[in-house]
Amino acid sequence: MTTRILFVCLGNICRSPAAEAVFRSLGADLDVALDSAGTGGWHVGEPPYGPMQQAARLRGIEMGTLRARQFEPLDFAGFDLILAMDAQNLADIKAMRGASEAKHETKVALFTDYCVQLRADCVPDPYYTRDFDGALDIIEDASRGLAQALRVQG
Ligand code: 4NP
Repeated sequence: MTTRILFVCLGNICRSPAAEAVFRSLGADLDVALDSAGTGGWHVGEPPYGPMQQAARLRGIEMGTLRARQFEPLDFAGFDLILAMDAQNLADIKAMRGASEAKHETKVALFTDYCVQLRADCVPDPYYTRDFDGALDIIEDASRGLAQALRVQG
């Protein structure tokens, strides 16, 4: 059965579209439906941030066709797994789940929970740190771990 996974950050122009694109590439053999969203709405409709696209392109990852959208309560029904890039994203998602009336079985977790080699408790926001490669290193490591976990799970 298809596993529906949503990657969530703040703006949906740096970390979560990169996570979506990297995981689409690393988990090409998996039966997954992928999307990404931001808890904030400032960049809705925009493509991923240029420097993020450029850093990803150097690793063979294309993300230019993605467009930002805002996370919404309906996403709890639309996805099996919602992965937050940092603790604030996770808290914001959980607050929205708490406020919504329907009961949701969707698993909500930190993307970095799936890291296999790097020790990271978040994907630091490169929009502010300017460390796009550091963010991609964590995103690739967590993507490998997530792909492994889904293969084991079957
Ligand atoms: P992201 O980075 O959450 O990784 O997409 C950000 C991009 C833009 C803003 C915040 C975070 N912003 O406030 O415009």
